Amino acid sequence: MANPAQTDDVDEQTVTPWTVRGGEKGIDYSKLIETFGSQPIDAPLLERIEKATGQKPHRFLRRGIFFSHRDLQLVLDNYEARKSFYLYTGRGPSSEAMHLGHLIPFVFTRHLQEVFDVPLVVQLTDDEKFLWKDLSLEEVHRLAYENAKDIIACGFDVKKTFIFSDLDYMAQRPEFYQNILKVRKCVTFNQVRGIFGLTDSDSIGKIAFPAVQAVPSFSNTFPDIFGKKKDVLCLIPCAIDQDPYFRMTRDVAPRLGYMKPALLHSTFFPALQGSQSKMSASDPNTSIFLTDSPQAIKKKINKYAFSGGKDTVEDHRKYGGDTSIDVPYQYLTFFMDDDKRLAEIKEAYEKGEMLTGELKQILIQVLQELVAEHQRRRAEVTDEMIREFMTPRKLNFSS
Ligand code: TYM
Repeated sequence: MANPAQTDDVDEQTVTPWTVRGGEKGIDYSKLIETFGSQPIDAPLLERIEKATGQKPHRFLRRGIFFSHRDLQLVLDNYEARKSFYLYTGRGPSSEAMHLGHLIPFVFTRHLQEVFDVPLVVQLTDDEKFLWKDLSLEEVHRLAYENAKDIIACGFDVKKTFIFSDLDYMAQRPEFYQNILKVRKCVTFNQVRGIFGLTDSDSIGKIAFPAVQAVPSFSNTFPDIFGKKKDVLCLIPCAIDQDPYFRMTRDVAPRLGYMKPALLHSTFFPALQGSQSKMSASDPNTSIFLTDSPQAIKKKINKYAFSGGKDTVEDHRKYGGDTSIDVPYQYLTFFMDDDKRLAEIKEAYEKGEMLTGELKQILIQVLQELVAEHQRRRAEVTDEMIREFMTPRKLNFSS
């Protein structure tokens, strides 16, 4: 079976949970929608979201950062019929320092939780990172708890949010492993190889892992929250690199009598070097981390952020900058909420009235404030709060 994670021209573009590589002009997201078989988030859908929620769509939706979906109409049908759904997202705890890219799904999920008033489960795949990285079980488990602090610092409502480490939850609730087994019985090695590009020499741990990321999509994996109900619809916000897991999940769900999860896919927060690749934790110079100091943020942006400006001030004034490839401008589209201000910056930069150094300075200030605020909120997360978020329990929500 062909690997749908790769488009026809393998050198052009690859998007899997482990590799994200675009062509010269960056990642072609329309092509991804085509090859993955998802749906674009278009203007009528945005209007429907606005009508259903009574709120202007989040900037990530307005600006096409969340650009693709599966079954979002069904989620809105449910919501309009006053039937509850739940949110599911996750993080693979491979390092203490999360970067700005990792924040995207969590910022958006928090917004969705607030707007729709729904429960949320957050999976920390410490088991995945044990299998893929050279890390001990103790270390991945510790990192799960460190990352939980960053997730809590995003402002989730403790009464509606359950965060779990796979290593913990596997020992706490038999329903988790039971669902994993059901998925494993339905998926062949051939399918896993096709979907994820795994090979004969990958460990059997890696081959069996996708079932673990699949089952939080099924409501009866969480008996404390949903009892025995298996028909509560799940909506998963994530970057599009995680889609292979959920293509597999959607394929097996009906065979198990479960609902297919719905998805909302985001584009990637690009590496400092440009939008051919995503920000990656394994190369510190591609990323701004949530642990970076104001000085480090300034230095990285000034030194590494790829500019769409011209080589000389004279040329820049004459021809203007190219915002479609300019990383500082792209970063602002993710984090500057004010549409009017952003449009002014775009215009001034494209006309050559604003120089690269000035644009970078605006971004430095926005990110220094954002990261400092995150660090302040993280420092306020106590052990007691972590324990509360991470204890299997009933959640409060209207159903
Ligand atoms: P991980 O830890 O690689 O990434 C966590 C989340 O961040 C998204 N992400 C990005 N989003 C935008 N720009 C980027 N540069 C960027 N890099 C990463 C990922 O898509 C993900 O949503 N196996 C998963 C953990 C997981 C999960 C899930 C994720 C378990 N269950 C359900 C999403 C939904 C992982 O290692 O994610």
